[in-house]
Amino acid sequence: AKVHHHKWEITYQFKSPDCLKKLAVTINGKTPGPTIYATEGDTVVVEVKNDLLTENVAIHWHGIRQIGTPWMDGTEGVSQCPILPGETFVYRFVVDQAGTYIYHAHYGMQRSAGLNGMIVVKVPDGFKEPFTYDREHSILLNDWWHNSTYEQATGLALPGNQFTWVGEPHSLLINGRGKFNCSLNVGGTCNSTNPECAPYMLTVVPGKTYRFRIASVTSLSALNFEIEGHSLTVVEADSHYVDPFVVKNLNIYSGETYSVILKADQDPNRNYWLASNVVSRKPGTPTGTGILHYYGVPRGRLPTNVPPMGPLWNDTMYRFNQSVAIHAHSSFIESPPSKSDRVINLLNTQNRVNGVMRWSVNNVSFDLPHTPYLIALKNNLHHVFEQRPPPDTYDVKTYDIFTAPVNPNATRSNSIYKLEFGSVVDVILQNANTLTANNSETHPWHLHGHDFWVLGYGLGKFDPESDPKRYNLKNPILKNTVVVHPLGWTAIRFKANNPGVWAFHCHVQSHFFMGMRIVFEEGVEKLGQLPKFIMGCGESKFEN
Ligand code: C2O
Ligand code: CU
Repeated sequence: AKVHHHKWEITYQFKSPDCLKKLAVTINGKTPGPTIYATEGDTVVVEVKNDLLTENVAIHWHGIRQIGTPWMDGTEGVSQCPILPGETFVYRFVVDQAGTYIYHAHYGMQRSAGLNGMIVVKVPDGFKEPFTYDREHSILLNDWWHNSTYEQATGLALPGNQFTWVGEPHSLLINGRGKFNCSLNVGGTCNSTNPECAPYMLTVVPGKTYRFRIASVTSLSALNFEIEGHSLTVVEADSHYVDPFVVKNLNIYSGETYSVILKADQDPNRNYWLASNVVSRKPGTPTGTGILHYYGVPRGRLPTNVPPMGPLWNDTMYRFNQSVAIHAHSSFIESPPSKSDRVINLLNTQNRVNGVMRWSVNNVSFDLPHTPYLIALKNNLHHVFEQRPPPDTYDVKTYDIFTAPVNPNATRSNSIYKLEFGSVVDVILQNANTLTANNSETHPWHLHGHDFWVLGYGLGKFDPESDPKRYNLKNPILKNTVVVHPLGWTAIRFKANNPGVWAFHCHVQSHFFMGMRIVFEEGVEKLGQLPKFIMGCGESKFEN
Protein backbone atom coordinates (compact mmCIF):
# COMPACT_ATOMS: atom_id res chain seq x y z
CA ALA A 1 0.00 0.00 0.00
CA LYS A 2 1.13 3.51 -0.80
CA VAL A 3 1.36 6.63 1.31
CA HIS A 4 0.08 9.81 -0.36
CA HIS A 5 1.48 13.07 1.05
CA HIS A 6 -0.33 16.37 0.62
CA LYS A 7 0.63 19.80 1.88
CA TRP A 8 -2.26 22.20 2.19
CA GLU A 9 -2.24 25.89 3.03
CA ILE A 10 -5.61 27.21 4.06
CA THR A 11 -6.04 30.86 3.16
CA TYR A 12 -8.71 33.41 2.41
CA GLN A 13 -8.59 34.55 -1.20
CA PHE A 14 -10.80 36.64 -3.41
CA LYS A 15 -12.65 34.28 -5.74
CA SER A 16 -15.40 34.68 -8.33
CA PRO A 17 -16.89 31.20 -8.67
CA ASP A 18 -20.21 32.64 -9.86
CA CYS A 19 -18.67 35.84 -11.36
CA LEU A 20 -19.20 37.87 -8.17
CA LYS A 21 -16.01 38.45 -6.23
CA LYS A 22 -15.99 37.40 -2.59
CA LEU A 23 -13.62 36.08 0.05
CA ALA A 24 -13.45 32.30 0.03
CA VAL A 25 -11.57 29.81 2.20
CA THR A 26 -9.21 28.04 -0.18
CA ILE A 27 -6.77 25.13 -0.20
CA ASN A 28 -3.52 26.12 -1.89
CA GLY A 29 -5.46 28.99 -3.46
CA LYS A 30 -8.29 26.83 -4.82
CA THR A 31 -11.94 26.18 -4.09
CA PRO A 32 -13.03 23.42 -4.37
CA GLY A 33 -9.77 21.95 -3.14
CA PRO A 34 -7.76 19.30 -4.97
CA THR A 35 -9.22 15.82 -5.41
CA ILE A 36 -7.38 13.25 -3.32
CA TYR A 37 -6.68 10.04 -5.25
CA ALA A 38 -5.68 6.81 -3.57
CA THR A 39 -6.18 3.05 -3.82
CA GLU A 40 -7.98 0.96 -1.22
CA GLY A 41 -5.64 0.22 1.67
CA ASP A 42 -3.42 3.26 1.06
CA THR A 43 -2.56 5.85 3.68
CA VAL A 44 -3.40 9.49 3.08
CA VAL A 45 -1.36 12.15 4.86
CA VAL A 46 -2.54 15.75 4.71
CA GLU A 47 -0.44 18.40 6.35
CA VAL A 48 -2.86 21.26 6.98
CA LYS A 49 -1.44 24.69 7.70
CA ASN A 50 -4.02 27.18 8.91
CA ASP A 51 -3.07 30.52 7.36
CA LEU A 52 -6.46 32.18 7.98
CA LEU A 53 -5.06 34.80 10.41
CA THR A 54 -8.17 35.01 12.63
CA GLU A 55 -10.17 31.82 12.08
CA ASN A 56 -9.80 28.23 13.32
CA VAL A 57 -10.00 25.19 11.04
CA ALA A 58 -10.71 21.46 11.19
CA ILE A 59 -11.16 19.16 8.19
CA HIS A 60 -13.48 16.16 8.14
CA TRP A 61 -12.93 13.22 5.76
CA HIS A 62 -16.56 12.49 5.16
CA GLY A 63 -17.32 8.77 4.72
CA ILE A 64 -13.87 7.56 5.79
CA ARG A 65 -14.60 5.48 8.89
CA GLN A 66 -11.31 6.15 10.69
CA ILE A 67 -11.19 2.66 12.18
CA GLY A 68 -8.59 2.83 14.92
CA THR A 69 -7.92 6.53 14.29
CA PRO A 70 -10.97 8.37 15.72
CA TRP A 71 -8.77 11.40 16.46
CA MET A 72 -8.29 11.89 12.68
CA ASP A 73 -12.00 12.45 12.01
CA GLY A 74 -11.54 16.22 11.88
CA THR A 75 -14.63 17.10 13.89
CA GLU A 76 -13.86 20.13 16.00
CA GLY A 77 -15.24 19.75 19.52
CA VAL A 78 -15.74 16.00 19.11
CA SER A 79 -12.49 14.42 17.93
CA GLN A 80 -10.01 17.27 18.21
CA CYS A 81 -9.30 20.84 19.23
CA PRO A 82 -9.45 23.35 16.39
CA ILE A 83 -6.33 24.12 14.38
CA LEU A 84 -5.50 27.66 15.43
CA PRO A 85 -4.28 30.34 13.02
CA GLY A 86 -0.62 29.75 12.24
CA GLU A 87 -0.74 26.13 13.40
CA THR A 88 -0.19 22.98 11.37
CA PHE A 89 -2.06 19.70 11.94
CA VAL A 90 -1.13 16.48 10.18
CA TYR A 91 -4.05 14.20 9.31
CA ARG A 92 -3.02 10.63 8.62
CA PHE A 93 -5.53 7.89 7.94
CA VAL A 94 -6.08 4.71 5.94
CA VAL A 95 -8.65 4.63 3.15
CA ASP A 96 -9.85 1.08 3.71
CA GLN A 97 -12.76 0.97 1.29
CA ALA A 98 -12.83 1.88 -2.40
CA GLY A 99 -15.42 4.46 -3.37
CA THR A 100 -16.29 8.12 -3.69
CA TYR A 101 -15.94 10.45 -0.72
CA ILE A 102 -15.76 14.12 0.13
CA TYR A 103 -13.89 16.28 2.59
CA HIS A 104 -14.90 19.59 4.08
CA ALA A 105 -14.32 21.99 6.94
CA HIS A 106 -15.95 20.92 10.20
CA TYR A 107 -15.57 24.10 12.23
CA GLY A 108 -18.57 26.35 12.79
CA MET A 109 -20.20 27.00 9.41
CA GLN A 110 -16.90 27.22 7.58
CA ARG A 111 -17.80 24.50 5.08
CA SER A 112 -19.89 26.95 3.09
CA ALA A 113 -16.96 29.36 2.74
CA GLY A 114 -15.40 27.03 0.16
CA LEU A 115 -13.25 24.53 2.03
CA ASN A 116 -14.37 21.29 0.38
CA GLY A 117 -13.35 18.71 -2.19
CA MET A 118 -13.50 15.05 -3.22
CA ILE A 119 -11.66 11.84 -2.35
CA VAL A 120 -11.54 9.08 -4.95
CA VAL A 121 -10.46 5.68 -3.66
CA LYS A 122 -9.85 3.17 -6.45
CA VAL A 123 -10.29 -0.58 -6.17
CA PRO A 124 -7.12 -2.64 -5.77
CA ASP A 125 -5.48 -4.07 -8.89
CA GLY A 126 -7.25 -7.14 -10.18
CA PHE A 127 -10.54 -6.36 -8.44
CA LYS A 128 -13.51 -6.41 -10.80
CA GLU A 129 -16.20 -3.81 -10.25
CA PRO A 130 -19.73 -4.81 -11.31
CA PHE A 131 -19.70 -2.40 -14.26
CA THR A 132 -17.27 -1.18 -16.91
CA TYR A 133 -16.40 2.18 -18.38
CA ASP A 134 -13.74 3.79 -20.52
CA ARG A 135 -13.00 6.85 -18.43
CA GLU A 136 -14.15 8.58 -15.26
CA HIS A 137 -14.72 12.16 -14.10
CA SER A 138 -15.66 13.72 -10.78
CA ILE A 139 -18.44 16.25 -10.36
CA LEU A 140 -18.76 18.19 -7.11
CA LEU A 141 -22.05 20.05 -6.58
CA ASN A 142 -22.47 22.97 -4.22
CA ASP A 143 -24.63 25.97 -3.40
CA TRP A 144 -23.12 29.41 -2.91
CA TRP A 145 -23.90 32.65 -1.08
CA HIS A 146 -22.40 36.09 -1.50
CA ASN A 147 -22.52 37.07 2.15
CA SER A 148 -19.90 35.74 4.50
CA THR A 149 -20.20 32.69 6.70
CA TYR A 150 -19.76 34.94 9.75
CA GLU A 151 -22.68 37.07 8.67
CA GLN A 152 -24.82 33.97 8.14
CA ALA A 153 -23.89 32.37 11.46
CA THR A 154 -24.45 35.60 13.37
CA GLY A 155 -27.93 36.03 11.88
CA LEU A 156 -28.96 32.50 12.79
CA ALA A 157 -27.99 32.95 16.43
CA LEU A 158 -29.94 36.18 16.98
CA PRO A 159 -33.14 36.05 19.05
CA GLY A 160 -36.72 36.81 18.04
CA ASN A 161 -37.34 39.13 15.14
CA GLN A 162 -33.64 39.83 14.74
CA PHE A 163 -33.20 36.24 13.53
CA THR A 164 -31.81 36.42 10.02
CA TRP A 165 -32.23 33.33 7.86
CA VAL A 166 -29.41 32.57 5.40
CA GLY A 167 -31.92 32.70 2.55
CA GLU A 168 -31.80 30.76 -0.67
CA PRO A 169 -28.35 30.41 -2.29
CA HIS A 170 -27.33 32.99 -4.88
CA SER A 171 -25.91 30.34 -7.19
CA LEU A 172 -25.46 26.63 -7.71
CA LEU A 173 -21.93 25.51 -8.54
CA ILE A 174 -20.74 22.56 -10.62
CA ASN A 175 -17.08 21.83 -9.85
CA GLY A 176 -16.78 25.31 -8.39
CA ARG A 177 -18.34 27.20 -11.28
CA GLY A 178 -21.67 28.96 -11.51
CA LYS A 179 -23.12 32.06 -13.11
CA PHE A 180 -24.72 34.88 -11.18
CA ASN A 181 -26.59 37.40 -13.29
CA CYS A 182 -24.29 40.45 -13.01
CA SER A 183 -26.89 42.73 -14.59
CA LEU A 184 -28.92 42.42 -11.36
CA ASN A 185 -26.43 44.94 -10.01
CA VAL A 186 -26.35 43.77 -6.42
CA GLY A 187 -23.15 45.67 -5.70
CA GLY A 188 -19.67 44.26 -5.40
CA THR A 189 -17.50 43.30 -8.31
CA CYS A 190 -19.35 41.15 -10.79
CA ASN A 191 -17.78 40.32 -14.12
CA SER A 192 -19.62 37.83 -16.29
CA THR A 193 -16.59 37.37 -18.56
CA ASN A 194 -14.26 36.37 -15.75
CA PRO A 195 -12.76 33.00 -16.76
CA GLU A 196 -13.21 31.78 -13.15
CA CYS A 197 -16.95 31.57 -13.81
CA ALA A 198 -16.83 30.11 -17.31
CA PRO A 199 -19.09 27.05 -17.30
CA TYR A 200 -17.56 23.76 -16.25
CA MET A 201 -16.93 21.71 -19.37
CA LEU A 202 -16.93 17.91 -19.34
CA THR A 203 -15.54 16.47 -22.55
CA VAL A 204 -16.69 13.06 -23.78
CA VAL A 205 -15.74 11.11 -26.89
CA PRO A 206 -18.76 9.92 -28.91
CA GLY A 207 -19.45 6.22 -28.39
CA LYS A 208 -17.45 5.93 -25.17
CA THR A 209 -18.80 5.00 -21.74
CA TYR A 210 -18.13 7.12 -18.66
CA ARG A 211 -18.30 6.82 -14.93
CA PHE A 212 -19.18 10.10 -13.26
CA ARG A 213 -18.56 10.33 -9.54
CA ILE A 214 -21.07 12.87 -8.27
CA ALA A 215 -20.96 14.38 -4.78
CA SER A 216 -22.86 17.13 -3.01
CA VAL A 217 -21.41 19.42 -0.35
CA THR A 218 -24.30 21.89 -0.38
CA SER A 219 -24.95 23.92 2.74
CA LEU A 220 -28.72 23.95 2.31
CA SER A 221 -30.01 22.65 -0.98
CA ALA A 222 -31.25 19.25 -1.98
CA LEU A 223 -30.35 18.99 -5.64
CA ASN A 224 -31.50 17.27 -8.78
CA PHE A 225 -28.73 16.68 -11.30
CA GLU A 226 -29.49 16.01 -14.93
CA ILE A 227 -27.44 15.60 -18.09
CA GLU A 228 -29.61 16.70 -20.96
CA GLY A 229 -30.59 13.95 -23.39
CA HIS A 230 -28.74 11.20 -21.52
CA SER A 231 -29.97 8.68 -19.00
CA LEU A 232 -27.80 7.81 -16.03
CA THR A 233 -27.33 4.35 -14.55
CA VAL A 234 -26.77 4.55 -10.79
CA VAL A 235 -24.06 2.06 -9.76
CA GLU A 236 -22.55 3.35 -6.51
CA ALA A 237 -23.90 5.17 -3.46
CA ASP A 238 -21.69 6.37 -0.59
CA SER A 239 -18.91 3.90 -1.60
CA HIS A 240 -21.20 0.86 -1.94
CA TYR A 241 -22.26 -0.87 -5.16
CA VAL A 242 -25.88 -0.41 -6.10
CA ASP A 243 -28.16 -2.82 -7.88
CA PRO A 244 -28.05 -0.72 -11.07
CA PHE A 245 -31.08 1.34 -12.02
CA VAL A 246 -31.62 3.95 -14.69
CA VAL A 247 -32.74 7.52 -13.99
CA LYS A 248 -33.42 10.57 -16.10
CA ASN A 249 -31.97 12.67 -13.33
CA LEU A 250 -30.44 12.09 -9.91
CA ASN A 251 -31.68 13.51 -6.62
CA ILE A 252 -28.66 14.10 -4.42
CA TYR A 253 -28.66 15.37 -0.85
CA SER A 254 -25.87 17.16 0.96
CA GLY A 255 -23.20 14.69 2.08
CA GLU A 256 -24.12 11.98 -0.44
CA THR A 257 -21.96 10.59 -3.22
CA TYR A 258 -22.97 8.51 -6.24
CA SER A 259 -21.39 7.00 -9.30
CA VAL A 260 -23.42 6.91 -12.49
CA ILE A 261 -22.64 5.41 -15.88
CA LEU A 262 -23.29 7.46 -19.01
CA LYS A 263 -22.90 6.40 -22.59
CA ALA A 264 -21.98 9.22 -24.99
CA ASP A 265 -24.39 7.90 -27.58
CA GLN A 266 -26.41 10.96 -28.57
CA ASP A 267 -26.13 13.24 -31.63
CA PRO A 268 -22.35 13.93 -31.68
CA ASN A 269 -22.75 17.24 -33.52
CA ARG A 270 -23.82 19.31 -30.53
CA ASN A 271 -23.13 19.87 -26.84
CA TYR A 272 -25.55 19.19 -23.94
CA TRP A 273 -26.40 20.86 -20.66
CA LEU A 274 -25.36 19.67 -17.25
CA ALA A 275 -28.05 21.01 -14.94
CA SER A 276 -28.31 21.28 -11.18
CA ASN A 277 -31.70 22.32 -9.76
CA VAL A 278 -32.95 22.91 -6.22
CA VAL A 279 -35.63 20.48 -5.07
CA SER A 280 -37.64 20.23 -1.83
CA ARG A 281 -37.45 23.98 -1.17
CA LYS A 282 -39.23 26.52 -3.34
CA PRO A 283 -36.33 27.42 -5.65
CA GLY A 284 -35.03 30.96 -5.33
CA THR A 285 -31.88 30.08 -7.21
CA PRO A 286 -31.45 29.75 -10.98
CA THR A 287 -30.43 26.41 -12.49
CA GLY A 288 -26.71 25.72 -12.14
CA THR A 289 -25.31 24.78 -15.53
CA GLY A 290 -22.27 23.23 -17.14
CA ILE A 291 -21.59 21.69 -20.53
CA LEU A 292 -21.30 18.09 -21.65
CA HIS A 293 -18.95 18.66 -24.57
CA TYR A 294 -18.88 16.09 -27.36
CA TYR A 295 -15.33 15.89 -28.66
CA GLY A 296 -15.19 17.43 -32.12
CA VAL A 297 -17.85 20.08 -31.46
CA PRO A 298 -16.47 23.58 -30.76
CA ARG A 299 -16.00 23.74 -26.97
CA GLY A 300 -17.68 27.06 -26.47
CA ARG A 301 -20.82 26.22 -28.43
CA LEU A 302 -23.67 26.35 -25.94
CA PRO A 303 -26.78 24.27 -26.49
CA THR A 304 -29.46 26.51 -27.98
CA ASN A 305 -32.34 25.11 -25.92
CA VAL A 306 -33.11 25.92 -22.29
CA PRO A 307 -31.34 23.81 -19.63
CA PRO A 308 -33.39 21.02 -17.95
CA MET A 309 -35.48 22.35 -15.08
CA GLY A 310 -35.62 19.11 -13.09
CA PRO A 311 -38.73 17.62 -11.47
CA LEU A 312 -41.28 19.76 -9.63
CA TRP A 313 -39.56 21.08 -6.50
CA ASN A 314 -42.36 19.86 -4.23
CA ASP A 315 -42.83 16.41 -5.77
CA THR A 316 -41.86 14.51 -2.61
CA MET A 317 -43.14 11.24 -4.08
CA TYR A 318 -40.68 11.51 -6.98
CA ARG A 319 -37.75 11.81 -4.58
CA PHE A 320 -39.13 9.20 -2.19
CA ASN A 321 -39.41 6.66 -5.01
CA GLN A 322 -35.81 7.21 -6.05
CA SER A 323 -34.65 6.75 -2.43
CA VAL A 324 -36.40 3.40 -2.07
CA ALA A 325 -35.00 2.20 -5.42
CA ILE A 326 -31.46 2.11 -4.01
CA HIS A 327 -30.47 -1.41 -2.99
CA ALA A 328 -27.19 -3.25 -2.57
CA HIS A 329 -25.81 -4.93 -5.68
CA SER A 330 -26.67 -8.65 -5.61
CA SER A 331 -22.99 -9.70 -5.66
CA PHE A 332 -22.01 -7.32 -2.88
CA ILE A 333 -24.66 -7.80 -0.22
CA GLU A 334 -23.45 -7.46 3.34
CA SER A 335 -26.37 -8.73 5.36
CA PRO A 336 -27.42 -6.71 8.39
CA PRO A 337 -27.89 -8.41 11.76
CA SER A 338 -31.47 -9.65 11.89
CA LYS A 339 -32.19 -7.89 15.19
CA SER A 340 -31.03 -4.84 17.05
CA ASP A 341 -30.09 -4.47 20.68
CA ARG A 342 -31.36 -0.94 21.03
CA VAL A 343 -33.85 1.26 19.19
CA ILE A 344 -33.45 5.02 19.28
CA ASN A 345 -36.37 7.10 18.03
CA LEU A 346 -35.34 10.60 17.04
CA LEU A 347 -37.98 13.25 16.41
CA ASN A 348 -36.75 16.11 14.22
CA THR A 349 -38.36 19.43 15.12
CA GLN A 350 -37.86 23.13 14.79
CA ASN A 351 -38.07 24.92 18.12
CA ARG A 352 -37.39 28.05 20.07
CA VAL A 353 -35.12 28.11 23.09
CA ASN A 354 -35.35 31.37 25.05
CA GLY A 355 -36.65 33.07 21.94
CA VAL A 356 -33.82 31.77 19.73
CA MET A 357 -34.76 29.65 16.73
CA ARG A 358 -33.26 26.15 17.00
CA TRP A 359 -33.53 22.63 15.59
CA SER A 360 -33.87 19.70 17.97
CA VAL A 361 -34.02 15.96 18.27
CA ASN A 362 -36.38 14.73 20.97
CA ASN A 363 -36.66 18.35 22.09
CA VAL A 364 -32.96 18.61 22.82
CA SER A 365 -30.99 21.13 20.80
CA PHE A 366 -27.30 20.34 20.70
CA ASP A 367 -24.38 22.53 21.78
CA LEU A 368 -20.68 21.65 21.62
CA PRO A 369 -18.56 21.72 24.79
CA HIS A 370 -15.21 23.53 24.93
CA THR A 371 -13.31 20.31 25.52
CA PRO A 372 -13.61 17.73 22.71
CA TYR A 373 -15.57 14.64 23.83
CA LEU A 374 -12.88 12.19 22.83
CA ILE A 375 -10.39 13.84 25.16
CA ALA A 376 -12.94 14.44 27.92
CA LEU A 377 -14.03 10.78 27.92
CA LYS A 378 -10.58 9.30 27.70
CA ASN A 379 -9.26 11.52 30.47
CA ASN A 380 -12.36 11.29 32.68
CA LEU A 381 -13.14 15.01 32.56
CA HIS A 382 -16.75 14.36 33.55
CA HIS A 383 -17.60 17.93 34.43
CA VAL A 384 -16.96 19.39 30.97
CA PHE A 385 -20.26 18.20 29.55
CA GLU A 386 -23.73 17.30 30.84
CA GLN A 387 -23.65 13.70 32.07
CA ARG A 388 -27.38 12.89 32.03
CA PRO A 389 -27.90 11.08 28.69
CA PRO A 390 -30.29 12.55 26.12
CA PRO A 391 -33.65 10.78 25.60
CA ASP A 392 -33.82 7.59 23.48
CA THR A 393 -37.32 8.37 22.37
CA TYR A 394 -40.14 10.90 22.26
CA ASP A 395 -43.84 10.46 22.70
CA VAL A 396 -44.13 8.10 19.72
CA LYS A 397 -47.78 7.27 20.43
CA THR A 398 -49.25 10.73 20.69
CA TYR A 399 -46.94 13.21 18.97
CA ASP A 400 -48.71 14.80 16.00
CA ILE A 401 -46.12 15.25 13.25
CA PHE A 402 -48.61 17.01 10.99
CA THR A 403 -49.00 20.21 13.00
CA ALA A 404 -46.54 22.79 14.28
CA PRO A 405 -45.12 21.81 17.70
CA VAL A 406 -47.71 22.51 20.40
CA ASN A 407 -44.88 23.11 22.81
CA PRO A 408 -42.19 24.82 20.74
CA ASN A 409 -39.76 24.93 23.66
CA ALA A 410 -36.67 22.77 23.70
CA THR A 411 -33.64 22.59 25.91
CA ARG A 412 -30.04 23.08 24.90
CA SER A 413 -27.63 20.39 26.00
CA ASN A 414 -24.28 18.87 25.18
CA SER A 415 -25.01 15.42 26.55
CA ILE A 416 -24.27 12.37 24.38
CA TYR A 417 -25.45 8.81 23.75
CA LYS A 418 -23.28 6.00 25.10
CA LEU A 419 -23.56 2.86 22.96
CA GLU A 420 -22.54 -0.53 24.22
CA PHE A 421 -19.48 -1.59 22.28
CA GLY A 422 -20.34 -4.17 19.62
CA SER A 423 -24.09 -3.70 19.99
CA VAL A 424 -26.49 -3.33 17.07
CA VAL A 425 -28.34 -0.02 17.07
CA ASP A 426 -31.44 1.02 15.15
CA VAL A 427 -32.19 4.69 14.69
CA ILE A 428 -35.54 5.83 13.39
CA LEU A 429 -35.48 9.41 12.26
CA GLN A 430 -38.96 10.90 12.28
CA ASN A 431 -39.58 14.17 10.47
CA ALA A 432 -42.34 16.56 11.55
CA ASN A 433 -44.00 19.84 10.75
CA THR A 434 -41.81 22.90 11.39
CA LEU A 435 -42.95 25.99 13.30
CA THR A 436 -44.64 27.11 10.08
CA ALA A 437 -48.02 25.56 9.32
CA ASN A 438 -48.04 22.99 6.49
CA ASN A 439 -44.29 22.87 6.20
CA SER A 440 -41.77 20.11 6.69
CA GLU A 441 -38.20 20.14 5.40
CA THR A 442 -35.73 17.64 4.01
CA HIS A 443 -32.93 16.50 6.35
CA PRO A 444 -29.97 14.44 5.10
CA TRP A 445 -28.47 12.74 8.17
CA HIS A 446 -24.79 11.82 8.21
CA LEU A 447 -23.10 9.41 10.62
CA HIS A 448 -19.38 9.69 11.29
CA GLY A 449 -17.24 6.58 11.81
CA HIS A 450 -19.70 4.04 10.35
CA ASP A 451 -21.69 2.89 7.41
CA PHE A 452 -25.28 1.98 8.24
CA TRP A 453 -27.89 -0.16 6.55
CA VAL A 454 -30.90 1.71 5.26
CA LEU A 455 -33.76 -0.53 6.42
CA GLY A 456 -36.68 1.51 5.22
CA TYR A 457 -38.37 4.80 4.48
CA GLY A 458 -41.92 5.91 5.00
CA LEU A 459 -44.12 8.92 4.48
CA GLY A 460 -46.15 9.91 7.53
CA LYS A 461 -45.76 8.71 11.07
CA PHE A 462 -43.61 5.66 11.85
CA ASP A 463 -45.60 2.78 13.31
CA PRO A 464 -43.42 0.79 15.74
CA GLU A 465 -45.73 -2.22 15.41
CA SER A 466 -46.09 -2.68 11.68
CA ASP A 467 -43.27 -0.76 10.00
CA PRO A 468 -40.33 -2.82 11.34
CA LYS A 469 -42.00 -5.89 9.79
CA ARG A 470 -41.46 -4.27 6.41
CA TYR A 471 -37.77 -3.51 6.90
CA ASN A 472 -35.56 -4.59 4.05
CA LEU A 473 -33.15 -7.08 5.60
CA LYS A 474 -32.48 -8.79 2.28
CA ASN A 475 -30.45 -6.30 0.28
CA PRO A 476 -30.35 -2.95 2.10
CA ILE A 477 -27.74 -0.49 0.87
CA LEU A 478 -24.97 0.62 3.23
CA LYS A 479 -24.58 4.39 3.35
CA ASN A 480 -23.15 7.10 5.55
CA THR A 481 -25.69 9.79 4.68
CA VAL A 482 -29.40 9.25 4.26
CA VAL A 483 -32.31 11.54 3.57
CA VAL A 484 -35.36 11.98 5.75
CA HIS A 485 -38.17 13.20 3.53
CA PRO A 486 -40.71 15.88 4.53
CA LEU A 487 -43.20 14.44 7.06
CA GLY A 488 -41.51 11.07 6.58
CA TRP A 489 -39.28 8.67 8.47
CA THR A 490 -36.10 6.74 7.74
CA ALA A 491 -34.85 3.69 9.65
CA ILE A 492 -31.17 2.70 9.80
CA ARG A 493 -29.16 -0.02 11.57
CA PHE A 494 -25.46 -0.06 12.44
CA LYS A 495 -22.94 -1.88 14.58
CA ALA A 496 -21.34 0.19 17.31
CA ASN A 497 -17.97 -1.41 16.74
CA ASN A 498 -15.63 1.50 16.02
CA PRO A 499 -14.04 2.81 19.23
CA GLY A 500 -14.41 6.57 19.34
CA VAL A 501 -16.82 9.47 19.55
CA TRP A 502 -18.92 10.09 16.49
CA ALA A 503 -21.16 12.91 15.37
CA PHE A 504 -24.54 12.14 13.80
CA HIS A 505 -26.22 15.16 12.30
CA CYS A 506 -28.28 16.80 9.63
CA HIS A 507 -25.88 17.79 6.85
CA VAL A 508 -27.75 21.03 6.16
CA GLN A 509 -25.22 23.39 7.61
CA SER A 510 -27.62 25.86 9.18
CA HIS A 511 -29.68 23.06 10.76
CA PHE A 512 -26.54 21.46 12.18
CA PHE A 513 -25.37 24.86 13.44
CA MET A 514 -28.77 25.42 15.08
CA GLY A 515 -28.57 22.21 17.08
CA MET A 516 -29.75 19.40 14.81
CA ARG A 517 -27.13 16.89 15.84
CA ILE A 518 -26.30 14.26 18.41
CA VAL A 519 -23.10 12.44 19.37
CA PHE A 520 -22.49 8.73 19.97
CA GLU A 521 -19.63 7.26 21.99
CA GLU A 522 -18.57 3.62 21.94
CA GLY A 523 -15.56 1.69 23.16
CA VAL A 524 -13.46 4.72 24.08
CA GLU A 525 -11.92 2.60 26.85
CA LYS A 526 -10.45 0.38 24.12
CA LEU A 527 -8.34 3.19 22.71
CA GLY A 528 -4.73 3.62 23.68
CA GLN A 529 -3.29 6.97 24.64
CA LEU A 530 -4.58 9.84 22.54
CA PRO A 531 -2.10 11.80 20.45
CA LYS A 532 -1.14 15.08 22.10
CA PHE A 533 -1.57 17.11 18.94
CA ILE A 534 -5.38 16.90 19.13
CA MET A 535 -5.33 18.68 22.51
CA GLY A 536 -4.80 22.17 23.84
CA CYS A 537 -8.31 23.62 24.05
CA GLY A 538 -10.86 23.79 26.86
CA GLU A 539 -9.60 21.69 29.73
CA SER A 540 -7.50 19.39 27.57
CA LYS A 541 -3.89 20.02 28.38
CA PHE A 542 -0.92 19.35 26.13
CA GLU A 543 1.03 17.72 28.94
CA ASN A 544 -1.61 15.09 29.61
CU1 C2O B 1 -19.91 15.88 6.05
CU2 C2O B 1 -20.12 15.92 10.14
O1 C2O B 1 -20.10 16.03 8.05
CU1 CU C 1 -31.88 19.45 8.44
